[in-house]
Amino acid sequence: MEDEEERSEVCALLYSNRSAAAFALGKYTAAISDAEKSIAMRPEWAKAVAMEPNDPHVRVSCERARIMARNEEMGLRVIQLLPGRDIALKPKGLHPIRSKIFEFAVGMQNYIYLVVDSDTRKCIVVDACWDVDGILAVIEREQLLLAAAAITHGHFDHTGGIPPAPFSSLRIRVTGVGELKRRLPHLPLLVHPLDMPEVAASNPQLKPQHFTPTPNGFTFRLGQRTEVKFMHTPGHTPGSQCLLVNECRLFSGDTLFPGSCGRVDLKGGSMADMVESLQTRLSAVADATIVYPGHEYGGEWTSIGREKKRGFLRPVGTAGSAQDKWGRLDDGPCR
Ligand SMILES: [Fe+2]
Repeated sequence: MEDEEERSEVCALLYSNRSAAAFALGKYTAAISDAEKSIAMRPEWAKAVAMEPNDPHVRVSCERARIMARNEEMGLRVIQLLPGRDIALKPKGLHPIRSKIFEFAVGMQNYIYLVVDSDTRKCIVVDACWDVDGILAVIEREQLLLAAAAITHGHFDHTGGIPPAPFSSLRIRVTGVGELKRRLPHLPLLVHPLDMPEVAASNPQLKPQHFTPTPNGFTFRLGQRTEVKFMHTPGHTPGSQCLLVNECRLFSGDTLFPGSCGRVDLKGGSMADMVESLQTRLSAVADATIVYPGHEYGGEWTSIGREKKRGFLRPVGTAGSAQDKWGRLDDGPCR
């Protein structure tokens, strides 16, 4: 009975969050339908919305609404795409390989972002992977102009191309930045120089001249009001980078997640670099900054302030080695 109660609460929460996401994406019919389902399961939440938003789940939606309103004020739109929800949807007809790739994409829970300047309608796609057709369809539907593709780091699930072993022998190719570049040859491909070899390894058609290197501090403008600044944050990979938009929205790739950080035990990972990136570089970003992570691990967004209180930006002091600092930090999950 208790399990059932819990399941119903989780479902109601999922519907409530999906409703808010649909609302943010301008899918109002879907937003209303999900909100109705949520309220049918938890009628008290509707009351909380109408009165004081005491329920933590409703508070999340209210906070989200505030973030969206602030984005709108500064002429910014953030479109967060999740495989299985927005893209990489079950293909029509018989596409056994594509279906498998999409199933895999749903399991990987990568977020792909469109960062849009509302004045010019220009946008940057961040970590275009898994379903280039789906991503381009959203760009077309929203009548946006794709100005650049940025990669937070060179891992296959953020770039596409040849999957890692043992799947590499199957001649399967996942659409990603290589495919985007083939279709749009003049599109700048914004990559940190240290991760270019890894991107090129899974996308051998990409040559050095196809990349636009983004060293720390590199900026890209989408319009008069929208500036994207690239921050080098090594640790997960040598060339990991975060995109800081208008000094208050951070696209953190696999460097920072709500309550955790990216793995440091994969090829090219460095615990010492990760500690430095988190404790020095990202901790210097303003607390009110909203963080959009590279995967759906622990939530759709967080903030720098929240991660300083209870995440991997908690100050751990300057004493001791990087290992000591990591030890003080690492009592939470790492993805
Ligand atoms: Fe990664």
